[in-house]
Amino acid sequence: MQVYLNGSFVGHTEASVSVADRAFVFGDGIYEVVRVVNGRFFMEDEHMARMDEGLEGLKIHLNENQRNQISDIGRKLISMNGLDEGQAKVYIQITRGAAWPRTHTFPDPPAEPTVYLAAESFMPHTQLHKEGVDTITVSDVRWSRCNLKTVNLLPNTLAKQEAKERGVNSAIMIRDGVITESPNANIFGVKDGVLRTYPATNYILNGITRQAVLAIADEEGVDVNLQPIEERELFEMDELFFTGTTTDIQPINRVNDRNIGSGKPGPVCKKIQTFYNKKLEG
Ligand code: PDD
Repeated sequence: MQVYLNGSFVGHTEASVSVADRAFVFGDGIYEVVRVVNGRFFMEDEHMARMDEGLEGLKIHLNENQRNQISDIGRKLISMNGLDEGQAKVYIQITRGAAWPRTHTFPDPPAEPTVYLAAESFMPHTQLHKEGVDTITVSDVRWSRCNLKTVNLLPNTLAKQEAKERGVNSAIMIRDGVITESPNANIFGVKDGVLRTYPATNYILNGITRQAVLAIADEEGVDVNLQPIEERELFEMDELFFTGTTTDIQPINRVNDRNIGSGKPGPVCKKIQTFYNKKLEG
């Protein structure tokens, strides 16, 4: 597999970064995961806009030339790795770069940002989309700038691991009595035909798939209420589902061993799945 690192295309086992890289030492970087179907980048502009928001939030400056090349590097990796047909994903990571000695303040003069991209084939979780998944609730212990897609993912990985150890697919994170999102996806509820999801604030990542679902709701005349679902309302929901680039639209059957609605994928989720797949496949 060929990857891109700081100006060169290299085999993935040869690509290496400095131990002084700020992402290694401080988690000082951002990332994106873009879905690619038959060579087409799904909602590319939205991913790039979120990447820019992350870079701005962390005050990492790419020069204009570097910034403008990102999508084309991703496209080149897709063809170099023979992924022009079928399902794939592109991973992009940009860090503040390598700086020595270790100091919390930014390197001055600024370090050259580390730019890394990889492309891999992707297998959608078709079975889970059809059957739905079980989940647990966990406390959302993250910071208050969750809108930035940084590589600081420890609360996310710990929550996902806890779910795995408890024999379920994923976790539902709760902050101040309301559902925020999952460690790697957004969450929607359905009550009496109305979609509910957390508003795009600093307490969630404004998922690109979430944005696609909101667009579908708008196009199909499904009402949306951007009022967070309270923990106490969880079991009053008719349906719950996850949305994400690698999750797609995934029904949630159970939370903490209790059924949501019928305990099976519901009609609104199925309808959104159909429309989403159409968008995805272009
Ligand atoms: N995760 N919320 C969080 C915390 C996420 O990490 C993700 C995506 C999402 C969904 O966003 P999108 O629809 O743009 O993928 C929501 C990626 C896929 C990951 O970490 O691999």
